[in-house]
This record gives sequence, C-alpha cells and structure tokens, in this order.
Amino acid sequence: MTAFNQAAATLELFVRQVRYEGRNIQSYELVDPEGAELPPFTAGAHIDVHLANGVIRQYSLCNSPADRHRYVIAVLRDEKGRGGSKAVHEQLQVQGRVRVSVPRNNFELAQGARKVILIAGGIGVTPLKSMAHQLANTDDVDYELHYCARDAQCAAFTDELQALVERERLHFHFDGGDPARGLDIAALLRDEAQDGTHVYYCGPAGFMRACADASGHWPSDAVHCEHFKAPERAITPADRKPGEFTVEIASTGQRLPVPIDKSIADVLKAAGIGVQTSCEAGLCATCKVRYLSGEVEHQDCILDADDQQNFLTLCVSRAKSELLVLDL
Ligand code: FES
Repeated sequence: MTAFNQAAATLELFVRQVRYEGRNIQSYELVDPEGAELPPFTAGAHIDVHLANGVIRQYSLCNSPADRHRYVIAVLRDEKGRGGSKAVHEQLQVQGRVRVSVPRNNFELAQGARKVILIAGGIGVTPLKSMAHQLANTDDVDYELHYCARDAQCAAFTDELQALVERERLHFHFDGGDPARGLDIAALLRDEAQDGTHVYYCGPAGFMRACADASGHWPSDAVHCEHFKAPERAITPADRKPGEFTVEIASTGQRLPVPIDKSIADVLKAAGIGVQTSCEAGLCATCKVRYLSGEVEHQDCILDADDQQNFLTLCVSRAKSELLVLDL
C-alpha cells in the first residue's frame, strides 16, 4: 500500500525510472513502492515534490491521467533558478524514495469545449502533454498542440508526442533562439476566439507575455495558463508605498502588523497560526485564504478575477488598505 500521510496528504514514492528527454531535461517516473494504484489526477495537475532541507517545488504531471500506477514529471535543470530543479536532478535517483503531495489541479481542461488550442513553450509542455493524452482519447473535441522550443534537442517527448498526436494536430516550432523565427502566436490566436474554443498555454516569461498579449481579445474564461515561475515585476514606488499593513484574524480579533519584508504567511506562522504554504511564490494556491474586508494587492499567478474578489494568497498578497480581515 502507498505510504500515505493523511495529515499532510503526502505519499512516499519509489523512483522507478529517470530518463534523458532533452538538453538538461530529465523525466522521473514515480510509483508506489509496492506497485499499488496512486490517487487519481486530471490533466493539468501538479504534485509538490519535497526535497532535502524542506524545499518544496511544484511539477506538472505529464503522463496520461488514465495511468493509475505512476506519476511522471519532467524537470529542466535551471542553473539560474532558485535551486529546486538542480536539487531534483541531483537528489532523485533510480531506486530512491521521494515524498510528494497528492495531485492538485489549478489548470483543468474546461468542460464542454469544442476546440482546444495547446501552446507550449519549452518545459511548459509538461501539463499540456497530459492534456494531449486526455484529448487524444476523446472524439468530440478538435484540438491542436503547438510546441515552441529553441531546437529539437531542447524539446522533450518529441517521439512520444508524435506517436500520441495525429500529424496534422501537432506542430513543432523551432526558432533557433530568435523568437521572430518561431510561432507567430498573435496570428495563431487572432481569429480563433470563437464560442467553444479554449486556449491553454504554459512556458517561460517572455512566451507567457506573448500569449497573454495575443489572447487579450478572447473572453477571459476561454484563456487558461499556468506559470511555472513567478513573472518578474517591476518594483515601483507604488508597490513599496503602503509597505506595512495589518491583518486581523476574524475568529479571534487578533491583529498583526505585516512589515514590508515579510509575507502575511511569515507573520501568521511566527504568531503560531498554522497556515500551509508550498511554492511561496504565488503559483500553487496552497495558501489561498478567504478575506472578509480590505483591499488586496494580489501578486499571485493563480487566482482568477472571480477568486480575487474573495480570496488572497498568504505568501505574496499585500494590502492596499491599512487593514485586511482574514477568514481564519
Ligand atoms: S504557497 Fe503557493 S501560492 Fe502561496
């Protein structure tokens, strides 16, 4: 039976296979040590991977949701990153063990779509590959996958995708490092905003900006994206302005100041108030909490406009008002 820690909703899994998938990209196949079924997931889901020294990172599952006995993640080693990808490459070895969360999904395929356009930038292909597995098993959705990468050596899963996705639906765009020679995302999305069509994209920062700009005229509920890195934000005087603010715990009335160099999550934890965090970068929604009053400066990449009316993320949200009342 899978070693399942109910309190933290984590599993201890066995690393059955590590494979080279592309330049600096390795995939990791994780299974139950005894071969048992794993908790199910839906296309677009991710798991938290618990690394040494308490580091936790999120990685999308890239295999088929119909696979009930394995989770597959793929990780691009990023020498300039926060260290998570290097730690995965160094710590996860065949026959080793790793603790992961049960899958969560902030990037689900919408129900009832007639057409789906998947646009992947580099390692952002991982959640979209899982979606392609699901879409390849349905007859009633027209779909296409565009995969943008520098060159074929930098693209992961090319053989698997060619076997999975019909030739006319799969488009590789290799730009040799010059985005002007790659996919014209604006042209692709210019005329596609039609009822029943949904677009999904995931990739590095410049690619995400290009997709956001190109889909700006689409209905917001037809556009879906997932960031794997928090976008760089220009720090403006306005960002720094209110600096310190106060949070109030609605159930007790306790008020706590949040200094400019601490997150709300930091302050709550220091006060002994149990809150869960994972990515600590506004990417995963683990720390999503309802707020009851106050004006929030949302800085996450995960809550949509509706969610933002009622929820904030404790790890990155700040306040525009002096006081935020949290439903805790
Ligand atoms: S911990 Fe991931 S969004 Fe806050």
